[in-house]
Amino acid sequence: MQIHSAISDLRAALSGKGRVVFVPTMGNLHAGHIALMTQARALGDTVVASIFVNRLQFGPNEDFDKYPRTFADDCEKLAVAGVDLLFAPTESDLYPEPQQYQVDPPEIKNQLEGEFRPGHFRGVATVVLKLFNIVQPQVAVFGKKDYQQLMVLRNMTRQLALPIEIVGGETVRAADGLALSSRNAYLTPAERREAPRLNRVLQAIADAVRAGNTNLSQLEQAAAAELDAHGWKTDYVAVRQQGDLQAPQAGNGELVALAASRLGTPRLIDNVEIRVNV
Ligand code: PAJ
Repeated sequence: MQIHSAISDLRAALSGKGRVVFVPTMGNLHAGHIALMTQARALGDTVVASIFVNRLQFGPNEDFDKYPRTFADDCEKLAVAGVDLLFAPTESDLYPEPQQYQVDPPEIKNQLEGEFRPGHFRGVATVVLKLFNIVQPQVAVFGKKDYQQLMVLRNMTRQLALPIEIVGGETVRAADGLALSSRNAYLTPAERREAPRLNRVLQAIADAVRAGNTNLSQLEQAAAAELDAHGWKTDYVAVRQQGDLQAPQAGNGELVALAASRLGTPRLIDNVEIRVNV
């Protein structure tokens, strides 16, 4: 696996590499990231991964400085997964001057994750568009774990007519249902035992909706109350339409239940897709 930090070196290495599939990450890789690499392998000729902890998408009180950086370990995992090239820029490679031109997503940037992380999706959209321009992939793979991120990037790609196919990867979970995340490392052993409740309450919503329950706000409130009764501090539990994450319209059976809640130090997110016959 080749590793490049300079944009010009990466571009030179990519010439003539056929159909390029790109998987951006912030490192500290786990089996969820690696599943995206494996999926990418089957989608083209050359797999490019990136590792860059993007300051623009972290709020002032978030964990940018503490975000785990495990570069040597990550490189080993990527090489084993068959990644051809790794782009690992430093901050001055990617942002040699202040990034004054940024991508401002529409109103959805202020909802769900965006309500609790002001500026987050602007930072994500900006870095991903910049990475797309550097790597110029034909395909890019993102995890459904970050459902709103996937939707924002899909819509950005479509509206800006970027010649890139966006592919979603299924969420990889521990055996007890907890979605794998770098932030799980901040859980104490007792919190780790409690953590699968987040997925359980979302699965319970999905079961109820599939069984015909249409009182979504009651289901959302009951799920948040169950979490908070077990020591969580819930930001939101919401059932939305898959395509635009707006409130479900009658007749739309493609839904998703999403939640974000803090358990001890880390803030965990998860979601479950729901398909109902309408
Ligand atoms: P990061 O959190 O490192 O995630 C990189 C990719 O891995 C994202 O597409 C994310 O959705 C996916 N991922 C994380 N956990 C997963 C899991 N358990 N199963 C499947 N996929 C999972 O998301 C980012 O980085 C950044 O915002 C980025 C897109 C790189 C822009 O900076």
